[in-house]
Amino acid sequence: MSLKMWQTYGGVGYASVGYDTVTGELGERMNSLGLPPIIQGGMGAAVSSWTLAQTVAKEGQLGVVSGTALETIVARRLQNGDEGGHMREALAHFPYPEVAQHILDMFYLPEGRGGKPYRPMRRISIKAHKEHDQLAVAANFVEVWLAKQAGTGKVGINFLEKLQTATPAALYGAMLAGVDAILMGAGIPREIPQLMTDFAQGKSGHLSIDSDRPSGIDAPILEFDPLESFGTAPELPRPAFLAIVTAEVLAGYLARNEVTRPDGFVVEHFTAGGHNAPPRRMQDTETGYGPLDEANIDKIRAVGLPFWLAGGRATPDAVADAINLGAEGVQVGTLFALSRESGLLPVYREQMLQAARDGKLKVRTDHRASPTGFPFKVVELPGTAGDESVYKARPRLCDLGYLRSSHINDANKVTYRCSAEPDEPFLKKGGEQEELAERICLCNGLTAAVGLGQERADGYKEAPLLTLGSTTGDVDAMLQEFPDGWSAVDVVNRLLSGIEMAAN
Ligand SMILES: Cc1cc2nc3c(=O)[nH]c(=O)nc-3n(C[C@H](O)[C@H](O)[C@H](O)COP(=O)(O)O)c2cc1C
Repeated sequence: MSLKMWQTYGGVGYASVGYDTVTGELGERMNSLGLPPIIQGGMGAAVSSWTLAQTVAKEGQLGVVSGTALETIVARRLQNGDEGGHMREALAHFPYPEVAQHILDMFYLPEGRGGKPYRPMRRISIKAHKEHDQLAVAANFVEVWLAKQAGTGKVGINFLEKLQTATPAALYGAMLAGVDAILMGAGIPREIPQLMTDFAQGKSGHLSIDSDRPSGIDAPILEFDPLESFGTAPELPRPAFLAIVTAEVLAGYLARNEVTRPDGFVVEHFTAGGHNAPPRRMQDTETGYGPLDEANIDKIRAVGLPFWLAGGRATPDAVADAINLGAEGVQVGTLFALSRESGLLPVYREQMLQAARDGKLKVRTDHRASPTGFPFKVVELPGTAGDESVYKARPRLCDLGYLRSSHINDANKVTYRCSAEPDEPFLKKGGEQEELAERICLCNGLTAAVGLGQERADGYKEAPLLTLGSTTGDVDAMLQEFPDGWSAVDVVNRLLSGIEMAAN
């Protein structure tokens, strides 16, 4: 990610595109994009699974599935016996039955794994790989298709710009299932609008990859060609594209050119869960963030595109405030992550709720944990990777590799590395010693949090890594009303009461 870009471009707005807000029944309020006021934020990996997104979509709001690592998630659910048959049901609707059958042959274990490790997965690279692309398309199709069994409810999918090599095939799979919105953060998604347009027109799509490379060598281009993968390339409906930004400068930069212009924005505060944009500069606060990192909402509004506010916006007052600032509504994560429909294993959800009840829920902004280099919100819970003794005891190993960066040398040879991988290969491939310190393996930690963690042949089990937003006041306020926990429907109703407040 080019942080310089983030900081350099000014927020020069262009003429407002003008759109109507049609207010019908409360909860049916939609804007010109056909999107409702409440967005249940995408939460990887599989915290915002199809179950959560479907529940929210049924309530008339935007349910967003996480598009992170879905090929691993779906392959592992199949290896666990596919309880309820949902993966198989969705695969039966995949338009390419021979590909669906191949996936079942590869991964489906009717009796489960019997304690054996999950099958190794091919790690993504800057080169297209037909079999892996087919799996990625099918897995993203499955998650969106299942979420969309919510009748007319709207469903979005969330991708991380940083995971560039995973994006084209994943995006195509989501579009094949008729996804209504694509939401992307953790970087500058300038090529995504064009990629979506190309896929909608039945063309192949391209994405340039930010490989570290000598000057004079062009950025590698990753192509996903539906014709090559499936022998046919139908025209598809083009979803809305919402770029997740933290500052008006990035919103202005993206909106200025029609090639990069999204349909709207989610403006995410640095208190939001998961990854955060780095602070403009480290400030003398507990988190390193401060006044410099507050988005200028007047300037965002002046850009003229619909926007939603995210990060600590989960009380009725905060929702009403967002509407009064000119937002369409809010995107909320933490309260949905803690709801009964979230993909988090119930035992971890309950431990976090209990910590909140005891006044001990602690979320730190960790500037070192994520190998992406972005700050990451880590829940400090004993026994999880957020506990120093647990992550330090973990033998380093990189077997999923979603966060690997690519490096091209003078001889045009490509190597991949992740600063959470074992020291020796990392250094051999040209990595710097200081990059290794305090990194947590997000891939394994986050999959363990949703009950899909690897169990290695020597009996080692991956510990979970938990993330939440740092506005724990939202959780405390919700607990006042729902001391025993809540459903996603309760969250939606609470947020809608904020919309009602703003309307009165
Ligand atoms: C468990 C969890 C995982 C998250 N993962 C992602 C993610 O993969 N991609 C993303 O863009 N945002 C992610 N987020 C951010 C949410 O989508 C949302 O913007 C944010 O949580 C809103 O702030 P709140 O938690 O204070 O409501 C995550 C948040 C949580 C709580």
